[in-house]
Amino acid sequence: MNKEIIAIDGPAGSGKSTTAKLVAKRLGFVYLDTGAMYRAITLKALRNKIDPKEEEKLSRMARESKIDLTEIEGENKVYLDGEDVTELIRDPNVSRLVSDISVHKNLRGVLVSKQKGLGEKHNLVAEGRDTTTVVFPQATLKFYLDCDLKERAKRRMLELETKGIRTSLQEQQDELSRRDKIDSRRKVSPLRIDPEAIVVDTTNLTIEEQVDEVIRLYRKKKKNEISL
Ligand code: DC
Repeated sequence: MNKEIIAIDGPAGSGKSTTAKLVAKRLGFVYLDTGAMYRAITLKALRNKIDPKEEEKLSRMARESKIDLTEIEGENKVYLDGEDVTELIRDPNVSRLVSDISVHKNLRGVLVSKQKGLGEKHNLVAEGRDTTTVVFPQATLKFYLDCDLKERAKRRMLELETKGIRTSLQEQQDELSRRDKIDSRRKVSPLRIDPEAIVVDTTNLTIEEQVDEVIRLYRKKKKNEISL
């Protein structure tokens, strides 16, 4: 039987991760953070001093890597070759480089096939940049979360602050805007709004409102399917 998939794309800081995580919890679905996979590969590239332009080396490394996304006692964990890298992949050095590494076609192919494999086994709430367009074009429901750049920079700054990392609003704004450009202008699977996606602007929404809206629309869709 086909699995249920809710796919959510959008730029960094739009509230995708928090929303997707909470929706998954409420519906009892598995949460798939595709960005965490690109981040894990970026961390490994940094450690192995592989230049972000070296597509072949990076793709081979991705093929040979074991990335596991699991939930342990309610917390989402990311394992890279058996090591817990949940915190390390959020390091600003990884954030700075991840978009440059994510442009490569063959590398993306490796990660996309891992993601599709998960979608065959589990009901998912998947989030990223190409989950609505490339990874799960058959998703039950698709969303594109958008948000004003300044608000996204503020959210990122506060998030980093809770981890003891101090940055400025301007620094975050510059970095997000740089990543937005790379993510949406790259040749392979750029971030774009899928024609079937429901666009939600989260600038003035609370997380609860975002989660409620996604769940409301999902239930509505299922109800309509049953009554067809
Ligand atoms: O969602 P995030 O900020 O953790 O994602 C980090 C980067 O990974 C993002 O800037 C681009 C890349 N990415 C991607 O290219 N495709 C995805 N499906 C998810 C993330």
